Amino acid sequence: MNIGVFDSGFGGLTVLRALLQHLPGANYVYLGDTARLPYGAKSQATVARYAVSSAQFLADQGSEYLVIACNTASALALDEIRAAVPVPVLGVIETGANAAQSSTRTKDVLVMATAATVESHAYAAACRERGLRAYEKACPLLVPLVEEGWIDHPVTGEILDIYLNELLEDSRRAGLNPDTLVLGCTHYPLLRANIERRLPPSIKVIDSAEATAAQVVQALGTTAPDIPAPQRRFYATDSVQKFRNLGTRFLGQPIESVELLDLGG
Ligand code: DGL
Repeated sequence: MNIGVFDSGFGGLTVLRALLQHLPGANYVYLGDTARLPYGAKSQATVARYAVSSAQFLADQGSEYLVIACNTASALALDEIRAAVPVPVLGVIETGANAAQSSTRTKDVLVMATAATVESHAYAAACRERGLRAYEKACPLLVPLVEEGWIDHPVTGEILDIYLNELLEDSRRAGLNPDTLVLGCTHYPLLRANIERRLPPSIKVIDSAEATAAQVVQALGTTAPDIPAPQRRFYATDSVQKFRNLGTRFLGQPIESVELLDLGG
C-alpha cells in the first residue's frame, strides 16, 4: 500500500509520525508545500488551488490512498481534492470530529485551529452532523511559536493562557458545557502537554493526528499487507535543508533525504 500524506509544511509530520507507529508496513510519500505556507491565513480559493496541485502530485507518484494532514486544507478544499484525484482521500476534520464524538459525554466540544479553519466552520459543521455543538477559536500565534521551537517557552505559556481562558469563558457564555478539546491544527500536538496542564481535568484533549492514524488503520488495516522494506519519501517545495531540520522535530526521528519540488506559485 502506497500512502500519500499532504500538508502545507512540516506540521503534517505529526500525522505521519502517528501513521508510522500504527501502520509501519506501508510505503509513505510525504509532501510539505513549504514554499506556499502558511495556508491558515489564506483564502479558500488559494488554499484549494495549492492543495489540489499538491494532491495531484501525490496521486501521480503512485499513492493509492491520500491523507490530507493539513486541517486548513481539509476544512477548505476537501471536496475539490476528492474531485481532482482518482484515489480515496481522508481529511483530518472528519477524523477529529469522529474522535470528539467518541470522547464527549456532554456533547459540547472546543476546537483550536487556524483562522482559515475557524472561518470555514468545518469543525462546527462536522460536529453538528454528529449531534455535537462545537465552539471554535482561531489561535494564529501558535504555528509560528511551534516552528520557532518555543514549545515550553514562557511566552508560549502566556499566549496559551490567554487563548484557553477566552475559549473556556466564551464557550460557557454561549451556553456550552465542554468536556473535549480538539487540537485542530497540525502544529498543536507538539503543545499538547502544555495545553493539558492549563485545562480543567474534566476536559479531554483530542489529537487529530492520532485520531487520523487510527482511522487510516481502520480503513486499510485488513487490506494493507506489510512490505518487507517500506519506503519513506519526502518532498518539500522550499528549502530541503530547513525541511530536514524542522521536520525532524515534528516527525520525532531524523529525515535522511528530502527532494525539492516546484509546484509553481
Ligand atoms: N497545516 C496547517 C493546519 O493544520 C497549519 C500551518 C499553516 O497554516 O499552513 O491548519
